Amino acid sequence: MNAPTPHDLNIQAPAYVKNARLIAWVADMAALCKPAKIHWCDGSQEEYDRLCQQLVEAGTFKRLNPAKRPNSYLACSDPSDVARVEGRTFICSEKKEDAGPTNNWMAPAEMRATLKPLFDGCMAGRTMYVIPFSMGPLGSPIAQIGVELSDSAYVAVNMKLMTRMGRAVHDVIGAEGGFVPCMHTVGAPLAAGEKDKTAWPCNETKYIVHYPETREIWSYGSGYGGNALLGKKCLALRIASTMGRDEGWLAEHMLILGVQNPEGKKYHVAAAFPSACGKTNFSMLVPPQGFEGWKVTTIGDDIAWIKPQADGTLRAINPEAGYFGVAPGTNMQTNPNCMLSLARDVIFTNVALTDDGDVWWEGMEKDTGHLPAHLIDWKGQDWTPALAKETGAKAAHPNARFTCAATNNPALDPAWDDPAGVTIDAMIFGGRRSTTVPLVTEARDWQEGVYMAATMGSETTAAAVGQQGVVRRDPFAMLPFTGYNMSDYFQHWLSLGEKLAAQGATLPRIYCVNWFRKGGDGKFVWPGYGENMRVLKWMLDRIEGRAQGRQTAFGIAPHYAEINWQGLDFSATQFDTVTRLDAAAWGEELKLHDAHFEKLAWHLPQALLDIRAALAQRIHA
Ligand code: OXD
Ligand code: MN
Repeated sequence: MNAPTPHDLNIQAPAYVKNARLIAWVADMAALCKPAKIHWCDGSQEEYDRLCQQLVEAGTFKRLNPAKRPNSYLACSDPSDVARVEGRTFICSEKKEDAGPTNNWMAPAEMRATLKPLFDGCMAGRTMYVIPFSMGPLGSPIAQIGVELSDSAYVAVNMKLMTRMGRAVHDVIGAEGGFVPCMHTVGAPLAAGEKDKTAWPCNETKYIVHYPETREIWSYGSGYGGNALLGKKCLALRIASTMGRDEGWLAEHMLILGVQNPEGKKYHVAAAFPSACGKTNFSMLVPPQGFEGWKVTTIGDDIAWIKPQADGTLRAINPEAGYFGVAPGTNMQTNPNCMLSLARDVIFTNVALTDDGDVWWEGMEKDTGHLPAHLIDWKGQDWTPALAKETGAKAAHPNARFTCAATNNPALDPAWDDPAGVTIDAMIFGGRRSTTVPLVTEARDWQEGVYMAATMGSETTAAAVGQQGVVRRDPFAMLPFTGYNMSDYFQHWLSLGEKLAAQGATLPRIYCVNWFRKGGDGKFVWPGYGENMRVLKWMLDRIEGRAQGRQTAFGIAPHYAEINWQGLDFSATQFDTVTRLDAAAWGEELKLHDAHFEKLAWHLPQALLDIRAALAQRIHA
């Protein structure tokens, strides 16, 4: 390869970069990856605009019509690089049992030996971007610093929207501070003088690798969000969950919202749902008719870092600074705040392009009342309603995404950037189940809540490559994101609850929800979206002591009369359809819990087996 040798390449860190360890690491990685150039990102608007323009010139970005969508772009990926690759995601702890049965594992030395030849010269002909970022408010004691080295300008500009990225991070690191090193390459080196033949270079071979003990991330071959924006799933969940285990806090796949009642009393709720199950919608919920005077505000839409305080409360921050959400299905009815967030300064990935230079995805026809007559679909092909009808072709990929800064959100909570975070009053765990699991129940105590979360099941979605619509156990919605042994993770939750209870703390209530139960006609019964406010209010009524609920085998459920139905026509019979516990279905469900626990038998907390036994007894009673 004719790439420059490390001696030719001037590392040339800007004067404001004072951290010798960082500079040495960049030099080492440049020597390995052999980029043509190094660019130290300063995070400025000018830099963002310049890189976006460069992406336009390279054909990776299309600039959208500024009259329709100011300062916004569309990127269409390689059709093979559209989602997280869980099968290629590895937790490389020294011991296999520390990664546990839910993670792919390889010994660190073996993985390093595998990756070294792949990374050798992987950035030839490209620029290596040095991307410093803070997960969490800059300088917050809860925040963590990472530095990503990537050969993708798409990654650099997305990181600017998704994190606190740029020069200020170097002030936080200073000369001595630590950072999580994050290596990323699309794995498509260019020979001397060679130009990209594609607008989305990537490699068929993919590795998304985490070394939890040394807190390093190495990602090879993909340019797609969750595989390439390493602050998000890799650092803020997989690596951070291990930090949390070691240091006594929680890194969770949870949105955080604020909810204020008409009397002005405010609560904070964290909620875990599997990928592409409406977390962004719930975090931006608009209270429906019948909830005049209520206000819901967003702190985060995907990830929460939750730390116990000396007084026993749990305080949470959103480590991210932007949203990388699923576009299809989003419209003014399902999520108006999100649509307003997407009005300008957005990067869209894998949605369709309209003839007037704007974007379109399935679901937007609900706002206009009709399908567009013609589009260029996410694969660059002509799309018409007739063709779609005939072939089922989607204009946007089902996992098409938008990236925008949190500050675009009109419902952003004033405390979203507060370094101290917000106090969590309730936690919600929600699977996607068409049967069995009721609309909402409250766990009788922390342990039962942990059981509910540990046994959560979900029908799979387009956020990850693989078969869709199959039920898989997705404990805590963390199946693809827990960076260590799942049973140890359960124990970590149980131990934290025990410790806080011993301090005399009032723990957050835990709720299990399922918005997705279907009726005999195969259609969703619960209207969802803004109407989920009705369930949220019942939870707050429980906390306030205003709703008694009724005991069921699987927690405390609402009486029909305890829900505010003002403005919604939802009968007691329909309510029964979404809340009923069917003993036969639960008999089958328990067998699935058993199979799940068998897989997780190593280190599985006895407390969960005890709760399972009590649950079985109640179901059969
Ligand atoms: C996401 C995911 O992108 O969960 O948030 O896949
Ligand atoms: Mn997610």
